Amino acid sequence: MIYPICIYGSPVLRKVAQDINPDYPNLKQLISDMFDSMYQSDGIGLAAPQIGLSIRLFVIDGTPLVEDDPSLKDFKKAFINAHIVERFDEISRFSEGCLSIPNIHEEVDRESKIRIKYVDENFEPHEEVFEGVAARIIQHEYDHLDGILFTDRLSPIRRQLLKSKLSAISKGKFSTDYKYKLAK
Ligand code: NI
Repeated sequence: MIYPICIYGSPVLRKVAQDINPDYPNLKQLISDMFDSMYQSDGIGLAAPQIGLSIRLFVIDGTPLVEDDPSLKDFKKAFINAHIVERFDEISRFSEGCLSIPNIHEEVDRESKIRIKYVDENFEPHEEVFEGVAARIIQHEYDHLDGILFTDRLSPIRRQLLKSKLSAISKGKFSTDYKYKLAK
């Protein structure tokens, strides 16, 4: 099934998401549906809060960006109960967008390496270091689990300049090809 994407202004996008247990109902189906929903909207990452679920789960398929970064060749993964334990190395700047904030793209500064703990679909634990575009995408999706949006990470001036656009988006004044849901 394809989930509608929750749009800027939806309260669920501002909540801190919770870890889940191995008995979480229909988890594999949910993950598969999240990948489908992401592909439907041409995204490279999707976090559970963006489909209205306040749980610490996100999916990423970075393979469309393999030309920017060859290490993304096999970077397709679901991260469950994700916790970044360390962010390090130099700050890099990269243009980001978000399915929950249609048609806005802004340069965002982030650390270029992260160490993250998570479990996979079989609840096997992992601790890995990611860098480059992979670290970028993970940090963007991970922020969703903490109720943070990429526009929060812009300078106060950029945020001020975007204010009216964001308010228009929250009211549905935008066009996209994918299914979405506004705050009630
Ligand atoms: Ni996003």
